[in-house]
Amino acid sequence: MCGIVGYTGPREAYPVILKGLKRLEYRGYDSAGVALLDGDLNVYKKKGKVAELEENMIGTNMHAHIGIGHTRWATHGEPNDRNAHPHLSQSGQIAMIHNGIIENYAKIKKDLLAKGYNFKSDTDTEVLLNFIEDIKKNNNCPLEEAVRIALKRIVGAYCILLIDKDDPHTIIAARKGSPLVIGIGKGEHFLASDASPIIEYTKEVVYVNDYEIAIVRPDELILKNLGNENQTPFITKLDMELAAIEKGGYDHFMLKEIFEQPTTIYDCLRGRLDTEKSTITMSGIQQYADKIINANRIMIIACGTSWHAALVAEYIIEELCRIPVEVEYASEFRYRNPIIHEGDVIIAVSQSGETADTLVAIENAKQKGAIIIGIVNAVGSSIARVSHAGAYTHAGPEIGVASTKAFTAQLAVLTMAALKIGLEKGTITKERYQQLAQELADIPEKVEAVLKTDDQIKKLAEKYKDARDFLYLGRGYNFPVALEGALKLKEISYIHAEGYPAAEMKHGPIALVDEDLPVVFVATKDSYHEKIISNMQEIKARKGKVIAIMTEGDTVTPTLADDIIVIPEADEIVAPMLSVIPLQLLAYHIGVAKGLDVDKPRNLAKSVTVE
Ligand code: M6R
Repeated sequence: MCGIVGYTGPREAYPVILKGLKRLEYRGYDSAGVALLDGDLNVYKKKGKVAELEENMIGTNMHAHIGIGHTRWATHGEPNDRNAHPHLSQSGQIAMIHNGIIENYAKIKKDLLAKGYNFKSDTDTEVLLNFIEDIKKNNNCPLEEAVRIALKRIVGAYCILLIDKDDPHTIIAARKGSPLVIGIGKGEHFLASDASPIIEYTKEVVYVNDYEIAIVRPDELILKNLGNENQTPFITKLDMELAAIEKGGYDHFMLKEIFEQPTTIYDCLRGRLDTEKSTITMSGIQQYADKIINANRIMIIACGTSWHAALVAEYIIEELCRIPVEVEYASEFRYRNPIIHEGDVIIAVSQSGETADTLVAIENAKQKGAIIIGIVNAVGSSIARVSHAGAYTHAGPEIGVASTKAFTAQLAVLTMAALKIGLEKGTITKERYQQLAQELADIPEKVEAVLKTDDQIKKLAEKYKDARDFLYLGRGYNFPVALEGALKLKEISYIHAEGYPAAEMKHGPIALVDEDLPVVFVATKDSYHEKIISNMQEIKARKGKVIAIMTEGDTVTPTLADDIIVIPEADEIVAPMLSVIPLQLLAYHIGVAKGLDVDKPRNLAKSVTVE
């Protein structure tokens, strides 16, 4: 949560920072602000989105070659101008932005209040900033040194950037738990929460590690650890194009990302799945194949949409590999006392690779001897780096807050991994392996076909947009898809929606059913089909409105459903990659029909880097 940007070099800093903030706005949009240093240190900040800050800046002096900017997802203190970042230290000498949470801020604030410090905001950030200033003053030391001393006494997570009036070319940055990327230009440096604000200027970046402090000047980047020892910056080349982070003619990133899925799934399979040679090449998985094959169980840890992908994977891995799988919410896993044995295999699934709960959960499990396999989209992200091995999903940057293309790419990777392990373990036959490999290879084309239902779904959205509640039902592999459909609708349209296993509906939710309740059935042709048809009848008998996602050629579903969306036939193991797409489109079109900002739904942020 929160996006941070910094620049030092010969360019005008404000346009670079503003553009960067727009690219990072998916990380939080409660307020935005910039600090520009040009002799004077000026801070401009505003509640609301970056566009409101931009509007507010018109007519002000924006000239500076160094600056920092922030887009906020509020933790401490309500979203307002006062709590917006950057914050200025008591003396007005230092400006700071922060992504994270300082857990022991209350005690530090109490001490600073006793020393006569005043606070203009309710934030933990302003406390850390004044703590740093106090140390700098008392020790008569450079800012870098004060930051190091302060951070050793801080409990919590942070990525901070500071500029000091007395040092007009230098940005001091540090991270623990919240991401920081530094772009290396010619005589200039760019700092950001992810590479999207940087890609336009340079492809050479350094991912800063936890407990590192960066001293960044136009022509110099010094990395140190908290013990003041120099660290060698490891330069990575970005494999990303600017077009990937722009809307490309679509009204919203979410729609663009839904429509990218034939390509993203193809990219994910490309170079790995070879149906002619009948091979799947995944070096990260291969390296640990023996451990996975011999594992007594696999645990999958994730949050949100990634957790739903993990639930589908549970069904797939148990079916193909006959290994027991437990799927855990990362936030629950990290705070209980889970039983982990040396050599247990834990799969972490995450689009951003920065989700705090998932990251800490795997760090804890790693310490207890578990093998961590990361299924991650964002290259170079924290979860990818903490994992022993893994596989990238190659879906490209996902900007829309609602996760769409990441989900189908996660399913593609997890299915390939299960197929590979199943074959090596001997729990599936060569014939079934080849059949499923072909089914996987056919998915991109079938997704194209599903996307042709877009106009029809738009009409459905108009019809149902005023419903107060929705129920989503599915069975087997499609049960997690029902959960995912409900999550998409909730976050984009603010309509209350519940996902349920279709048969479990009889044990409570059926009480909700009346003629006003739309019930979305994910009812593709699979081994549960007859059963789900019975559940549909139960809803119809109570006058519920049935919207069915059904397979081409199914003649029964249309006799029961009020509305149908027809998708191509596919094996039940790969079907979720198709059946989820109409649900993504339905949520999108309902959100748009209600006039909502689907790319930036209220209260949410793309990357949840706080617990
Ligand atoms: O980046 P991650 O996959 O770890 O994120 C997990 C969740 O925060 C994320 O899926 C969230 O639920 C999305 N808003 C869902 O659309």
